[in-house]
Amino acid sequence: MEKQRKSGHLVLVMVPFQGHITPMLQLATILHSKGFSITIVHPELNSPNPSDHPEIAFVSIQDKLTKSQFSLKDVASLTLILNRNCAAPLQQCITNILHSYDHIAAVVYDTLMFCAQTIADNLSLPGITLRTCSATTLLLFPVFPQLDEKDFISEIESPELQVLELERFRALLSQNPTEAVMESRFAFTNAVRSSSAIIVNSMEFLEQEALSKVKQYFPAPIFTIGPIHKLAPKVYSSLLTEDDKCISWLDKQSPESVIYVSFGSIASIDKQELIEVAWGLANSKQPFLWVVRPDSVRGLDWNEPLQNGFQESVGERGCIVKWTPQKEVLAHISVGGFWSHGGWNSTIESICEGVPMICKPFFGDQHLNSSYICKVWKIGLELHELERGNIERTIRRLMVDMEGNEIRTRAMDLKEKAALSLMERGSSSCSLHDLTNQISSV
Ligand code: UDX
Repeated sequence: MEKQRKSGHLVLVMVPFQGHITPMLQLATILHSKGFSITIVHPELNSPNPSDHPEIAFVSIQDKLTKSQFSLKDVASLTLILNRNCAAPLQQCITNILHSYDHIAAVVYDTLMFCAQTIADNLSLPGITLRTCSATTLLLFPVFPQLDEKDFISEIESPELQVLELERFRALLSQNPTEAVMESRFAFTNAVRSSSAIIVNSMEFLEQEALSKVKQYFPAPIFTIGPIHKLAPKVYSSLLTEDDKCISWLDKQSPESVIYVSFGSIASIDKQELIEVAWGLANSKQPFLWVVRPDSVRGLDWNEPLQNGFQESVGERGCIVKWTPQKEVLAHISVGGFWSHGGWNSTIESICEGVPMICKPFFGDQHLNSSYICKVWKIGLELHELERGNIERTIRRLMVDMEGNEIRTRAMDLKEKAALSLMERGSSSCSLHDLTNQISSV
């Protein structure tokens, strides 16, 4: 057990998904650098490796998740099961930590682990929620159940939010939600409403209009402290092994010539889609670095069906790996475009390196992020159908055509703004400063 440090002791509660583990570990590292001692409580599944983070104490709690439950594609049901299974052990665990340290400055939990807020309330501790997706996603749940269509549309009158077509997302979310989905949304919203502070891995300038709406719906102060990976650049958090050979392959390519393709840690495609992606990449004639995760092609072993002349056609022009050091890849001079599923972490990482994007959203907030990227910030192109001709054309529009140059210029502008937000008086630095002050003052 590490001694309590001068700013106080914090308990961070993690959920076992890659896109959530990374920002939570980064936040832990940042808060540790601000003088807090930290314990991370996490489910057994996808446990982080403590030896990668010697400054942090880790405690694992029983999640009782079965393999089939974890492979559920319905994130709401999985989240609900996780919260039900973890609530009692989490309460016990935080009580034990409280006995050991005498004082806990705050319980900081991933918004998906909403049971932590009730536990914090039970123990009279401040609960702070970390939203690892965009701030705009916070508008979806509290607003939707309460307002009818007319009210909702007049509520969302700002130009940026109109471009985003939030009503369309509302309609999607309202389509026959299961009981698990309703219960999850209700608990999620209640937790965020009861929290003492909301931390978001975003930047003021990215979601300005949405943030002002969010502030109307939630009483707690909101701290946009992103891009948090730039504040904690050395945190290792990959659940899969990063294949470094892609970096030596990138070293051999021309500047800004490579299209990097990755659909994050959860999305999957079927065999025919894999073949379409492969031939779309091959026919684009651009060099490509493509992540095909071991479990990402439904019903098949890794890239098994990529025969029939594919390798011969692309030769050294293509590099396929199971997992990359993505932040390093995006910062590499050879990478000129990122074809992504539009996960929030990937979006923020791409913005920080000024890499323009192609977006093929699969589920959930990825559609909203894709609308931001392509319609609001205009730093990417949308790709709807996974069909080889369509893929080839979209890649060439981004990487070769004039249209791509304009998109690249806007992406570079956003990169500069992101860097500014981290400077001494930048919005994210100030937000982080205010956050640590608030925690220390309670
Ligand atoms: C999930 C949801 O799917 C997404 O919609 C939500 O916004 C966040 O949680 P995920 O699908 O994993 O996330 O995507 P993303 O948010 O982009 O996170 C993936 C992370 O894995 C990124 O930090 C990325 O750098 C990392 N990664 C991905 C690698 O390090 N190597 C890879 O090869 C691929």
